Amino acid sequence: MQFQNSKNGFLMLDQKMNNPKFTEALSEQWINYASNHSEPIPEILIELERETHQKILQPRMLSGPLQGRLLSLISHLINPVSIIEIGTYTGYATLCLAEGLQEKGIIHTIDSNEELVPIQQHFFNKSAFKCQIKRYLGAAVEVLPELSGPFDLAFIDADKVNYTIYFEILLPKMKKGGLIISDNVLWSGKVIKKADPKDESTIALQHYNEKLKNDSRVKTVLLPFRDGLTLSWVC
Ligand SMILES: C[S@@+](CC[C@H](N)C(=O)[O-])C[C@H]1O[C@@H](n2cnc3c(N)ncnc32)[C@H](O)[C@@H]1O
Repeated sequence: MQFQNSKNGFLMLDQKMNNPKFTEALSEQWINYASNHSEPIPEILIELERETHQKILQPRMLSGPLQGRLLSLISHLINPVSIIEIGTYTGYATLCLAEGLQEKGIIHTIDSNEELVPIQQHFFNKSAFKCQIKRYLGAAVEVLPELSGPFDLAFIDADKVNYTIYFEILLPKMKKGGLIISDNVLWSGKVIKKADPKDESTIALQHYNEKLKNDSRVKTVLLPFRDGLTLSWVC
């Protein structure tokens, strides 16, 4: 992109980069390249992604292949005894995170949507982690206080307006040296602009991102990866 050698060349590039179709196609190519040069996706996850797209509303919510491989890698690095996930959806990230669990480790995963239970059950039972996944059906603000921890790894990926509440409930339950991962913190880029006063999710995420940056109980890096993924290491 730096190799344009004339003013016109730069102008043309500028125009192209301002064209959402061009940047979308470019980033799709980058993502495909990155996926093709990362660890292969386990067969069960390929099937789960396909079935989610065929049968479930809003398949965009699923973590997806590249983020899934990153979550799996992080989990392997931590090699957790206990993981907590807020927002199971169809269980894609649950299965990715479970890959790094210790032999007797457990992943606890919470979701409030009853309609997702059959697909979660089907794929969890089919997986190698059948006995290591504990599902909870209900609102996370009610379920979370009932779970005692301590957790080595947490994945916050449910309703954005409650991220700060989830973080505050979770933090005392985390092991020192544990990691809290928060998804969708860029919210399709909406967080960088002045939010519509009615857009509660964007406003909540803007506060959440600011809070994590200034919270001395964690060391935080916000990665511009996919829809934004924040890693907060518990000091
Ligand atoms: C983005 S999806 C989770 C995706 C999943 N973690 C993955 O990576 O494949 C968000 C999920 O949070 C659930 N959810 C939303 N609000 C919730 C709440 N208050 N309590 C529990 N779950 C909630 C939704 O039902 C949805 O399944």
